[in-house]
Amino acid sequence: MRVLITGASGLLGLNASLMQASHFDIYGVVHQTHLRDVPFQLVHADLTQDGIVEKVIDQVAPDVVINCAAMAQVDQCELFPEEARRINAWMPGIVAGCCDHHRIPMLHISTDAVFDGKKGGYTEADIPHPQSVYAQTKLEGEERVLSANPRSLVVRVNFFGHSLSGERSLAEFFLHHLLNGAQVNGFVDVIFSPLYVKHLADILFVMIDKGLHGLYHVVGEEKVSKYDFGRMLAKKMSLDESLIIPTSVSDAGLKAKRSPNLFLDISKLKAADIEIPSLQQGLDAFIADFQTKWHVAMHAYQS
Ligand SMILES: NC(=O)c1ccc[n+]([C@@H]2O[C@H](COP(=O)([O-])OP(=O)(O)OC[C@H]3O[C@@H](n4cnc5c(N)ncnc54)[C@H](OP(=O)(O)O)[C@@H]3O)[C@@H](O)[C@H]2O)c1
Repeated sequence: MRVLITGASGLLGLNASLMQASHFDIYGVVHQTHLRDVPFQLVHADLTQDGIVEKVIDQVAPDVVINCAAMAQVDQCELFPEEARRINAWMPGIVAGCCDHHRIPMLHISTDAVFDGKKGGYTEADIPHPQSVYAQTKLEGEERVLSANPRSLVVRVNFFGHSLSGERSLAEFFLHHLLNGAQVNGFVDVIFSPLYVKHLADILFVMIDKGLHGLYHVVGEEKVSKYDFGRMLAKKMSLDESLIIPTSVSDAGLKAKRSPNLFLDISKLKAADIEIPSLQQGLDAFIADFQTKWHVAMHAYQS
């Protein structure tokens, strides 16, 4: 099977491309990041340019497309809203239309942040209420994908893992501070249910294999504050938990508004008979990959 993965230099796209390269014929789209010696085919493209999505899909002729490309830095989206709209909202709709035209299944990655976080426990039937440019543009992306191609699969996720820069995920943020003996803030009033990125990547391929379509929440089963997440990681690695300072997100001076409780209901995913690794398993896998230097191998792909 030939799989086109956009955002193949990003946290999710790179982990997924590297993991699946020995099973599938992976074509990874990158834009500004330069990679070398990766075990998959590289495609260089700015997917927001007119006609580029169609050109890439025509040239690669994939059996399935996974769209991980995005402006995923929440505060960056507040600074560059038009750019955020192009990549997070318009581009996914164009990919979906093109996939519909060629009858290619498409999986689009969205976010838990489409909700305002006032209640938590959100199902796919709950009405989103985005609180930031990032969340608004991601919601518009979902809507454009599902209207351009009703057979597409849209998943709302949250995840952590090792990235090319070493700086993309919350787990890396805690890990680096704690290893350096530096104090770090942990939000006590932001709740989420993250999956380890490799567990998420496995689940995505199972969902494709099952031929699922429509909207799904794909996160972990346990809810945890960002503060407790950091403490769990510290404890498992025998690092100094007291370096994590309990803080309120409202005191952090962040540009974009954050939703307090983004715990998502995953009953629909479980009804599709999909196994969800626990947060403990996710943290163990993150630590095991750190110990076996998965992150170092990953950094070596950056040219
Ligand atoms: N990280 C999280 O915790 C989280 C949580 C919820 C949802 N999500 C969603 O998960 C998905 C993946 O996020 P991530 O954290 O893996 O993202 P990321 O690490 O920020 O990577 C973003 C990717 O998008 C690519 N990209 C950006 N603009 C592009 C353009 N104009 N043309 C082509 N490619 C472009 C980047 O390519 P270059 O680097 O080569 O420019 C990069 O590969 C996104 O849809 C995000 O909204 C992420």
